[in-house]
Amino acid sequence: MKTLVLASLASLIVAGSVAPAYSQETDAAPGARLFQQRCGTCHQIATTRNGVGPHLQGVVGRTAGSDEGFKYSPALKASGVTWTTETLDTFLTNPGAMVRGTRMTQRFNNAEERRAIIEFLGSR
Ligand code: HEC
Repeated sequence: MKTLVLASLASLIVAGSVAPAYSQETDAAPGARLFQQRCGTCHQIATTRNGVGPHLQGVVGRTAGSDEGFKYSPALKASGVTWTTETLDTFLTNPGAMVRGTRMTQRFNNAEERRAIIEFLGSR
């Protein structure tokens, strides 16, 4: 009995020692869920298939309008934007204000949600 308790204590301590990786995963989880809810109908991320919108796999660091297989608006293609945490945040807040003429029109007003979604995008 005593050894059992000790064993489970030990596994708790081991779990605690990998805390950084663990907390990264739990932080990304709400982002993953929010992505599915807010973006998933138009954007794929698990595959590179394009839908209503272009796939977003590896979007952080990507040049805007650069997926060969997607027919972008001329506005987004010509924007010269590179997707970073900052440019994504500005875009999602109000796409049309940042890239006039873009075909993505949804605005995402909740800063906390944007942060979680962008963090998730950066992990893919
Ligand atoms: C109703 C459909 C729709 C929804 C919902 C939507 N988007 Fe989009 N998104 C688009 C379309 C269409 C484009 C292409 C715009 C263009 O060509 O001007 C786009 C483009 C983008 C781009 C530019 C990609 C590139 O290759 O340059 C990013 C980044 C993006 N969306 C992120 C998001 C995120 C993150 C969400 C959720 C918070 C989201 N979108 C929700 C339709 C949508």
